[in-house]
This record gives sequence, C-alpha cells and structure tokens, in this order.
Amino acid sequence: MAKIDEDTIRQIKEANDIVDVISSYIPLTQKGKNYFGVCPFHDDHSPSMSVSREKQIYRCFTCENSGNVITFIENYLKVSFVEALDILAKNANINLNIKKEVKDLPNKDLYDIYEIASSYYKNNLNSAKGKEAMEYLKKRGLDKETIDFFDIGLSLDSGLVDSLSKQYSLDKLKQIGLSNSSGKDMFRNRIMFTLCDIYGNKVGYSARKYTENDEAKYINTTDTPIFKKGSMLYNFHRAKDFIRKEKEIIISEGQMEIIRLHTVGIDNAVALMGTSFTNEHLSLIKNMKINVVLNLDQDDAGKRATIAIGDKLMENSIMPTVILFSGYKDTDELILAKGKEAFTEAYKNRVSFIDFKLNYLKNNKDLKDSSVAAKYINDSIEAINKIDDNILRELKIKELSKEFNIDESLIKEKITNNKVIEKKEKTNVVVKKVYNKYDKSELKILYFMMIDPKIIEYYENNLGYLNDDNRKKLAREIINYYNKNKSFDLSDFICYTTLHDDLNSIMKEVLAFNDSDEYTNEELEDYCERIKELRIKKQIDLLTNQMKSSLDKEEKKRIAMKIENIKKEVLKW
Ligand code: UTP
Ligand code: MN
Repeated sequence: MAKIDEDTIRQIKEANDIVDVISSYIPLTQKGKNYFGVCPFHDDHSPSMSVSREKQIYRCFTCENSGNVITFIENYLKVSFVEALDILAKNANINLNIKKEVKDLPNKDLYDIYEIASSYYKNNLNSAKGKEAMEYLKKRGLDKETIDFFDIGLSLDSGLVDSLSKQYSLDKLKQIGLSNSSGKDMFRNRIMFTLCDIYGNKVGYSARKYTENDEAKYINTTDTPIFKKGSMLYNFHRAKDFIRKEKEIIISEGQMEIIRLHTVGIDNAVALMGTSFTNEHLSLIKNMKINVVLNLDQDDAGKRATIAIGDKLMENSIMPTVILFSGYKDTDELILAKGKEAFTEAYKNRVSFIDFKLNYLKNNKDLKDSSVAAKYINDSIEAINKIDDNILRELKIKELSKEFNIDESLIKEKITNNKVIEKKEKTNVVVKKVYNKYDKSELKILYFMMIDPKIIEYYENNLGYLNDDNRKKLAREIINYYNKNKSFDLSDFICYTTLHDDLNSIMKEVLAFNDSDEYTNEELEDYCERIKELRIKKQIDLLTNQMKSSLDKEEKKRIAMKIENIKKEVLKW
C-alpha cells in the first residue's frame, strides 16, 4: 500500500477548495452560506446536493452521499482513494509520488499473481515460441507499441501453473482461474488480452485462439474473488479520463474494437466483451452523466443488443446515439479496411437511438398490410413512450401520426396510459428514511458535536452514551479525534470515517439528516431527555420481560419494585 501520511492528505485537501473542485464538474448556485447543485450520485433534477465552503464538505439530502473533496473525486470519477489524492495533488501542483495503488486487502496476493502471470504471458509473446502469434497480431495490424500498451501476451502449452505453484498453492491458482481442475494451465496456446478492474489492477483474461481449430474463439476468466464478468467493461480504467473530458462514452462489443480505436487516437471507448449490458454497467455510466454512443457489431446480434441496451438506457433517462455502417461486421474491420475517416464519417452520421429503434421495428415489414402496420404503430408508440424528453416525444408523435395518417390524439391517449412514466417516477425517488423522535435526537446531537466542540463537552457531562451502538461508537470517535487534535475539523474527520464501514454509514446519515447548524439550549436539553427516556424505556422493557419469565414470586416482587423505583426517579425530573 502506498502509504501517504496524514499531513500530506491534509495539505492536499487544503490546496483544493471543495466548492472550486465540485463546481468544475457540476454547476453550483450559491444560496446563503452554502452552494447547491443537482446531485450526480442519484437520479434527480432538483438541487439536493449542498456544498459548504466553510466546512469543506458536500452532502446530498436525498441519497445521503456525502464527504469531503477527496471522497467526492473518488465517487464522481470512480477512482480509488489514492488515485483521488493523486488527481487533487496534480491539481494543486503538489508532488505526490505514487506509482500505483497496490491494495493491502485480503486479496493482495491475487493481484500479485496476476502481475506475474501477465509478465509471463508477455515474455512468451516476445520469445521464439511466440513467433506465430506475433505474426497473427501483425497481420491484424497491431504493432509492438499497441501490443505492449494493452498488455497483450501469449499462453503456451504449459508453464504458468508450474512456475506459479512454487510460490502459491494450486487451490489458489484454481480459485483465481489460472489453473483448471486437473492442475493444468487454464489458458493454453492463446493470445492473452489482459483485463483490468476500474482501478487498473490486472484481474483476468480474454484469450483468443490464433490458429484454425474447433475450439471457441475466445475463452474468458470466469468469476473470481477479484473479477466479476458482469461488471467488466474492457478498457474502462484507461478510458475514464477521456470519457470525463469528452463527456461521452463509446460502447463496443469486443476488445479488438477498442484496440483498433486506440490506434487511430480514439480513447473514450470501452467494450462489453459480448453483448450483455448489466445493471453494474448501467450504474457506472449513469453516475458519470455523459453521452452514450452505441457502437456494437453491425450484424443482427449486434442490432438486437443495441435495442436491448438502448431500451435499458432510455428507461434510465439516457438517450444514446447509434453508429451505423455497412459492408463490415465491426469497427475493427471497418477501420482496418477503410481507415479512421470511414469511422469518423459513421460517427458523424450516427442516429438517435429512438430513430434507430423505429427503423429497426420497420425492417422487412410489409406495412401495406394493415395488421402489420397496426402492430408496427403500437410497437412504435411503446418505444416513443419511453422517451424522457417531452419535446422529442412530441416530435416523434407528430412524425408517426403523419406517416400513417392517424390522429395525434389517438397516439397520445396511449402514451399517457403507459406504465413507463410511473416506473420512471419510481426510479427518480430515493426513499428518504423516516426517523422517530429518539433517532432524531441522536442524529442531532452527533451533528452538533461535530460542528461545535462545546457540544462534545456537553455530551460528556450530560449524556455520555447513545442508545444505538454504531452512533455511540461514532460519538466516541468524535471525542477521541477532538482530544487528539484539540480542535475539530469535520472534513478531516471524514478521511477517518470513510475507512470504517460502520462509522461511514452513520456519518452519512448524520450529514444527510441535518440541514441546519442552528440550535438552542432548550433544543439540546430536549434531545438529551429523549435519549435518556429511550434508555429508561429499554431498561423497563428488559425488567418487565425478566419479571414475566421469572417463576419465583419473591423475585417477581423485587423486579416490580425496581421498575417502580425507576418510574419514580423519572417523575422527579
Ligand atoms: P466477436 O465474435 O464480435 O469478436 O465477439 P471480435 O471482437 O470481432 O473479435 P475478433 O475480431 O474476431 O478477434 C465480441 C466479444 O465477445 C466475446 C469477446 O470478448 C469478444 O471480443 N466473445 C466472443 C467471447 O467471450 N467468446 C467467444 O467465443 C466469442
Ligand atoms: Mn472482430
């Protein structure tokens, strides 16, 4: 783990004002002391995210995402803590020498094994044994530099498991998909395309055959503790900066498309590695608020996949565009044969997904047959219904009405009847938690402790506990932090809580729940009383249960007395 000391973290944080940083990504408007913007972490149109220059924190009152400038970068750019620091350090011209984060998680050795495997495969490709594979790659127009850049290698008949098993158990090698069940190399005589997670750690392979045989064209790593095929987007870790800059992502089917696009200077592209588009893919894209360009294969399977992906995106208020060309199966073949210009041309002429879909629905249909036409019209209405943009929806209704000479009102009738609108509303609403008076009091006290050290003292003198264990733990940490630093910096404290899952989730609740820094003494006293009241209630409940389950008459009496005494005490205050 690249260890970065607390002072450096503080220095980087201080050099990056949170309002300046966040407003470079999303528009913020000042209202009073705070700044507000549309939260990029959930589906919303109203400004529910607040950014405080004074506290150097941001928080969303709807989805509870919150943190300091570092956590914002982590969440927004989908980078690790260390990468976020690196970005912010560069931003402020601070020299931070981190090559790459090596995870110090339980899986560290799994990442290490993949590093070793990848350099082994690379060596093979460059050795005498790699001659034929190298020729195959050259024939496909990939030069040495591209091969290196994408960590392409070669597996042989055997060799990897033999060498790795000197250092690691065979079970482990099986578990991470490098050895098959009989202890042989999982991948044999294939060109190895290295797969990385979103942070750039090597985690798997897509292995292509390069000689004529009956085997499957590609074999891929199956799920392991560090690799989930369903969330894999080939090249995402390299593309993410370009995607962010260009506010656009190009989605293709296979890794060869991505490699080819890179050779002609297009770097905001990722591949699904097949045609299925999962919820993990969706949420990665949705959070980034970018334009989506679908660039799947031009064959029928590719078109069907385009429809499925486009539908899913539209249901999530994203209208993608679609790249179309003819004569070639995929972008790799197009560019190889016709050059970058052919792709640029197809890119320029890309069509809106809704037009693509309406056109696709029309394909090979005899629309002179009225029952066929009726089905087409109904299918089209269903598609139009999913359009999020009112104006675009209106345009499409008009077009359809003109094309078939049917009344607009007839189409509109069907549109408002639709479930999709309902569904859309549902996804937009993040259900806000409802708290009772006891929860509220604890969340309030915690918040005031963090914005005013006087309340830390007040808590210690008057209360000293909270009923909820995790909240109590957070209170303890607040006190420890304060005692250690002799002051309390909320944004700095967040660096600490984000490292602890239990504290982190409570912290988010506290920040999202409190939107005012004002309090009165009566209010504080009231919170304390609620908290004490709950504690007593809990005590009484416990004793009542004990009393009920006890068989001894004397004991029952004793417990009843105890309960009475507690109740009397309470009446005194
Ligand atoms: P394609 O069959 O379109 O391959 O599959 P491709 O990208 O054109 O590859 P080349 O040009 O023939 O080398 C698209 C993607 O689907 C996955 C691979 O990730 C491939 O890149 N795939 C394909 C498999 O996983 N297994 C297969 O047998 C075939
Ligand atoms: Mn291809």
